Amino acid sequence: MRGNSWRRMVFSALGAAAVFLLAAPESRAAAPQPDSCVQCHRALPGKLGAPAKMLEADIHAQKGFSCVNCHGGDPASFDVKVSMSKEKGYTGVPKPAEIPALCDKCHGDLAFMRRFSPSIAVDQHKAYQTSVHGQRLAKGDVKVATCASCHNAHGILPAAHANSTVYAPKVAGTCSKCHADKAYMKDYKIPTNQLENYLQSVHADLLIKKRELSAPTCNDCHGNHGAFPPAVSSVSGMCGQCHVNNRDLFVKSPHKPAFERMKLPECVVCHSNHKVVRVSEAMIGDKSPAVCVSCHAAGSPQLRVAAGMRKQIEDLKSLIHRATEELEKAERLGMEVSEAKFSMKEARTMLIKVRTQVHSFALKEVEKEAQIGNKVAQGALQTALGALKEFEARRRWVILPIVLTVVLALLLFLKLREMERKSPGGV
Ligand code: HEC
Ligand code: HEC
Ligand code: HEC
Ligand code: HEC
Ligand code: HEC
Ligand code: HEC
Ligand code: HEC
Ligand code: HEC
Ligand code: HEC
Repeated sequence: MRGNSWRRMVFSALGAAAVFLLAAPESRAAAPQPDSCVQCHRALPGKLGAPAKMLEADIHAQKGFSCVNCHGGDPASFDVKVSMSKEKGYTGVPKPAEIPALCDKCHGDLAFMRRFSPSIAVDQHKAYQTSVHGQRLAKGDVKVATCASCHNAHGILPAAHANSTVYAPKVAGTCSKCHADKAYMKDYKIPTNQLENYLQSVHADLLIKKRELSAPTCNDCHGNHGAFPPAVSSVSGMCGQCHVNNRDLFVKSPHKPAFERMKLPECVVCHSNHKVVRVSEAMIGDKSPAVCVSCHAAGSPQLRVAAGMRKQIEDLKSLIHRATEELEKAERLGMEVSEAKFSMKEARTMLIKVRTQVHSFALKEVEKEAQIGNKVAQGALQTALGALKEFEARRRWVILPIVLTVVLALLLFLKLREMERKSPGGV
């Protein structure tokens, strides 16, 4: 009994391995030359010809693959009845539901993919199956994204290539083919304003206009292949991939458990998800438009904390402003203040740190950081004022010799005139 099932398992494993060794390598072997599929299709018009033309730049063609690796058939025969016959393994145009498995035949196989790239991930299909896209596809919804919706079917480029559909600055456009199309998305109960909002964010401004690749686009927050709306309590982790200090302070703050109880999406409550804009001290305080007043009542201790933090930020900001102005004035007059000017960098960094410290929602912590900034800015301001005073003093000392010289020259002139008049040659 036991021996039998063992034997069966061994045989079925051997069988599976044989099927894999016989079938898989064939459909993954490089296409022969000449390649009838490419040659015939290149001459065909429209949709039949386009794939052959697009394949030229395709990463797969560059690695020696061709039509046959995705569509099957016999690329050695120029007879359509043979090359595109079922007997030769031709499978036609894959349906959306078949595409993930088609790509996964190579992309899910670590040993195979390592031959081409030692570091490429092979979890795309697994991640995809956990995504809303993958789960709905499995239930027969063919309007969701499959591998080919985001990467195209032909002309696929590496993600880091500037013309790739998944190159970071292009991703928002790729996702929004569907997500910003009201007609396409009309059967679903989700908004279609993600792109519109994202384009107004500081993130898009940096990534799309300034090509600053450290700023996020859709897949940085939703995952490349596991596209999910994040659960409310994982938002801080998502934003915290990049905003580490804000996250660390927030998760220890009284807002973390409070927001969890109220099922509020953490950072998004105050900063929004897609339309994240640059912050200013107007966000904090006891009066509108501060975000705090939407939850805390007028006169509450929480709003006193909010007003206290606002004051710390404003005071430091105006001190930095004044010190900068005075330093510039001194510099214009030729005074040496470069060291103090340099220290203002630290003061400005401290101001950002104070804004970060807000996420502790503890006034004492904010005051502590503000004091360090105040000290640096105050020091620089004193240097500037000292330099300006010194300039005034120097001016006094510079004027005196000038006045003396002028007076002397005048006396000399008068003396000369007098000597001229008295001279014997004079009339
Ligand atoms: C001698 C020319 C010729 C050769 C060789 C050829 N094709 Fe085609 N192929 C066509 C024509 C014509 C059509 C459109 C008519 C049809 O579907 O039969 C077509 C259609 C297709 C389609 C679209 C089918 C559909 O249902 O829309 C695919 C995919 C395709 N070919 C792949 C291949 C592959 C893969 C090979 C090589 C193994 C190949 N072709 C070889 C001429 C050719
Ligand atoms: C990396 C895999 C892959 C390769 C290589 C590939 N195709 Fe395709 N092809 C697909 C997929 C996937 C689709 C279905 C696209 C979709 O549904 O959006 C498709 C669709 C097509 C279609 C139907 C197009 C349409 O707009 O209806 C034709 C024709 C076609 N392929 C021909 C070719 C030819 C010819 C080659 C070689 C020059 C080729 N393909 C190479 C994956 C591939
Ligand atoms: C919703 C859009 C989307 C879908 C669906 C999708 N991808 Fe991707 N894919 C991306 C994005 C975006 C990147 C770029 C990631 C980056 O910038 O590093 C990517 C990267 C890749 C890479 C490069 C290596 C890596 O993992 O970063 C491969 C390979 C890949 N995808 C294959 C697939 C396969 C296979 C499928 C289907 C099972 C698929 N993708 C489905 C959007 C998608
Ligand atoms: C015959 C095997 C095979 C099939 C089928 C296949 N790929 Fe690939 N793919 C490769 C290989 C090999 C590479 C090159 C990897 C490398 O060198 O980085 C590659 C590269 C890629 C890349 C670029 C990865 C990067 O470095 O950013 C993307 C994206 C990609 N494939 C998507 C797809 C999609 C989508 C499909 C299905 C429509 C598909 N592939 C089907 C073998 C395959
Ligand atoms: C081919 C069209 C298409 C493309 C391209 C596409 N999606 Fe989707 N997506 C859908 C559809 C359809 C749904 C299902 C809507 C639903 O969940 O009710 C969906 C669902 C989602 C969801 C779940 C929404 C929810 O609350 O249920 C997220 C998140 C998502 N997509 C993100 C992305 C991202 C990020 C990209 C690009 C990297 C992308 N999608 C590309 C069509 C697409
Ligand atoms: C900075 C992170 C971030 C970026 C960038 C981002 N999202 Fe989102 N997205 C979120 C968060 C967080 C949620 C969930 C918000 C909530 O629970 O209130 C969300 C929700 C969604 C949803 C669910 C429906 C909805 O609007 O609530 C879709 C679909 C979606 N995003 C698509 C996209 C697309 C497409 C892009 C690119 C144009 C994108 N997202 C860019 C963080 C981001
Ligand atoms: C992939 C990294 C990344 C992710 C993920 C990310 N951000 Fe950002 N964020 C940045 C970068 C880079 C900047 C620009 C910083 C700068 O120039 O000062 C930025 C700027 C900001 C700013 C403006 C800061 C200022 O000085 O005014 C806010 C607010 C912000 N992000 C909040 C969020 C929130 C909330 C989330 C999650 C929903 C998030 N970010 C997700 C990278 C990211
Ligand atoms: C979405 C609603 C919401 C917003 C917006 C909000 N809070 Fe809160 N806050 C709460 C809840 C709920 C608690 C926990 C219960 C309590 O202390 O009232 C809390 C607690 C606090 C506490 C802790 C009080 C204690 O017990 O130690 C402080 C301080 C605080 N908030 C300050 C702020 C400031 C400053 C802002 C604006 C930047 C703000 N809150 C914005 C809901 C909010
Ligand atoms: C209760 C409201 C609230 C929550 C929740 C919140 N923030 Fe903030 N955030 C603020 C306020 C208020 C400021 C600063 C206002 C100012 O400029 O003085 C700020 C400033 C910022 C800044 C710019 C200053 C800096 O640190 O560089 C970033 C980035 C930021 N928040 C990210 C996040 C992230 C990430 C989360 C979630 C982990 C988060 N915030 C949660 C209210 C909030």
